[in-house]
Formats: sequence, structure tokens, C-alpha cells
Amino acid sequence: LDHNTHGADSGHAAHAGPAAAPGVSVADLRGPSRAPTRKFTLTARAATVTLPSGATVDAWTFDSQLPGPELRVTRGDVVEVTLRNDLPGIGVTLHWHGYDVPAGEDGVAGVTQDAVPPGGTFTYRFEAKDVGSYWYHSHEMSSEAVRKGLYGTLVVTPDGTESAETDIALPVHRFDTGATMLGGSDRRETRDVPAGRRVRLRLINTDNDAHRVAVGGTLYIVSAIDGRDLNGPTVLTAETTLRLPAGGRYDVVFTMPAGAVHVMVDGRDSDGLLLGTGAMPAHPAGSDLDITRYGTPAPGPFGRYNKDYTLVLDRLVRFLDGVPSYAYTVNGGVYPDIPPLLVDQGDEVRTTVVNRGTESHPMHLHGHHVLVLSRNGRPVTGSPLWLDTFDVLPGEVWQVAFRADNPGIWLDHCHNLPHAKQGMVLHVAYR
Ligand code: C2O
Ligand code: CU
Repeated sequence: LDHNTHGADSGHAAHAGPAAAPGVSVADLRGPSRAPTRKFTLTARAATVTLPSGATVDAWTFDSQLPGPELRVTRGDVVEVTLRNDLPGIGVTLHWHGYDVPAGEDGVAGVTQDAVPPGGTFTYRFEAKDVGSYWYHSHEMSSEAVRKGLYGTLVVTPDGTESAETDIALPVHRFDTGATMLGGSDRRETRDVPAGRRVRLRLINTDNDAHRVAVGGTLYIVSAIDGRDLNGPTVLTAETTLRLPAGGRYDVVFTMPAGAVHVMVDGRDSDGLLLGTGAMPAHPAGSDLDITRYGTPAPGPFGRYNKDYTLVLDRLVRFLDGVPSYAYTVNGGVYPDIPPLLVDQGDEVRTTVVNRGTESHPMHLHGHHVLVLSRNGRPVTGSPLWLDTFDVLPGEVWQVAFRADNPGIWLDHCHNLPHAKQGMVLHVAYR
């Protein structure tokens, strides 16, 4: 199922700069030109990395690390990241997943820029204005590139609060070898945290499938999802599982108890992260947190919707080079033959997303967050829920809305990246 030659990630990078509006090229919609306050360089290169368990991975890396270096900045920073590509024969970009940058900084090969060729560089700039948990990854042949290791975390903190918390970003990732990593490790790691200390864990799913995380040994809250704070979140226990969709992020916050706290991924107590000292806490079986019911309701900001779109997600079998393979479709088409959602600056766009297939589709919109209005016809009764990646399960119908406030040509796609490669990608295009 690897025959698509049409995807935005196919490697056949078109020239950058489709028109964003008459006379404006996406490549011209760049970040701030004033002097950066934080500068980073990330070098993409092939490396054989030995994981903490001793297993090795032949990876594509940033700076020979898995995951790539964490980019941690403070609100107000002007961030400059120079990408250098030392990978042999493979183009690379940087996409800031969940961080709503200007279109020309979005790092989508063939749409907002050409992929950076071997030996080349590209410099990205954006303002750190939205506090929260994000990640970055290459967006050229992304189903291969991300899986093989071209990813890392991006954290924006508010000024001055950092030292009061133990703050750990924990990407969940799986390699083709089967190795699963939480943060920087594929085995159980322990970390000493004194009782009474405030802890923030940034759970980030960088894999193609959903993963379930449970936090045992403490009461906790999910304070933010996809980099947006929730209103009045209720207290959760080990019996709740957090089902993280591909690309999604949950911030877990608690005060360190006297005993140990264990962060468990997919029901395994042999790995994960053990904080504090004492016996391994129990993980009683429970159920998934329904994020559309979670938190205290507060009004969303939308009133009128002047555009309405429906996206029907499905799968069909097609023949490519005489070989049957799946195509993942939106309204019956595969990328690039799916009509874009056309918007004008200032629009309030409502979209109904229907999954007619048998697999879940974690839909990711670039450059914007969407407000979830309803799931399966039930209005959201939790906190205003702003997501950039929402998981539409088989048979589900989600209604979401966004404000068209970031001009450009954007991708809207399934973040199960093989599904995207096989067609489930469309554009949101400003006229
Ligand atoms: Cu995380 Cu289009 O990507
Ligand atoms: Cu999908």
C-alpha cells in the first residue's frame, strides 16, 4: 500500500508559492523580520541510535537524537530555527504541528516551500505567542520521515513560572522495529520528584495510531489539550485513560504525592515513566476520558457561520500500477483531486466531518485551531474545546468551526500519515 504518487508528501515537491490571494504567494507570508531572541539550528542526518534498552534504530534524526532536541521558548520570544539537511538524497522541512504560524513558515513541502535538498538550509521564524505543548516534524514524505525519527517537541512557557514546576515533555513514538518510546526512552525510566512539587507532563502522540495513557498513583487534571487551556477541568484518577489521537497533545498536571506516580502507555507497566519513590502504583481498569464532556462549559466565541462544509471520509480500493491498494478519500476524491475549502479572511467556517469507514481518522488542520461544536449530534458540554487534531472514530460525525484569520494555503489531513499519503489530504485556501 505504498504506491501513491500524488500526495502532498509524495516527494515530488512542486515549486513553492501557489497564490494565497491575487498577487500574493504563500512563500511571501513569512514570520517577523525583527531580531530573534532565541536561535536554534537543527541538522537532519541519518544515524544509528542506541535506545536506553540497548535496542538500535536506523533513524533519520535531528542532531543524531531521538526525539530531536526539545525547543523550549518563552512567550514573547522571536524564534528562529535554521534547518540544515545532511540526509543523503532525502528532502526535509520543519512543520510546527499545532502552532499556528504564518503560512510561509508552515513547512509543507510542495505547498508552502520546496523541500530543503541535501546540503541545503532553510530558516524559519515565528513569534512565540501561544503558550502550550506542540511538536515539530518534517513534512516531506512525512509518513516515512516522522516514523523514522524526524520529530521533536516544541514547548512555549509563560514567563517566569518554569522553575515552580517539574515540566516534562513526553512524546509517544513507535519505530518500525516495534520499539516504543515515551520521551527519550524505550524502557521504564525513573525520576526523583519531591512530594508536594507541582508536575506538568506534556503527552504528545507523534505516532500514526492512537495510544492510551493512564496516570497511576495520584489525582490529576488534564489542564490543556492541543496547546489550549481547558475551562474548569475536573479531577481524574488512574481509572481514566487518556486516548491520545495521532498528533494530539494532553497536558497532565498534579501535585506530587508521597508515593510513586506511574505514567503507563497502552497498559504496559514494564515501561513508562515512574516518578518519585515507592511501590509501583495500581492501574485499575477504567474508561476513556470523553473530552467533549470534560471541563466546565463556557460560551464559545462564534455567532454566525457564513460558510458550511461537509467532509465525508471513507476508503476504497484502487489499482496503481496494476496493484490493488487502498485510497483514503474525502468526499469521494483523493489528494490532489479534492476541491479545497475556499474561505475569505474573517469567515466563520463550520465543517461537518463524517467518517463512513472502519478506521479512525485523526484530522489535523494546519494554521488554525477548531472549536468542537458537537460530536455525534450531542453538543459539547465541556470547556470550549479548541483542537488542532480531532479523532473521528468509525461512524462518528463531528461538527467543528474555525475562524479564517491566517491567510494562506493550508493542509487539512488525516494524521495517520499513511492515510494522508494514500489520499486523505485537502487544502483550505484563502481567496
Ligand atoms: Cu503534523 Cu500536516 O502535520
Ligand atoms: Cu485516517
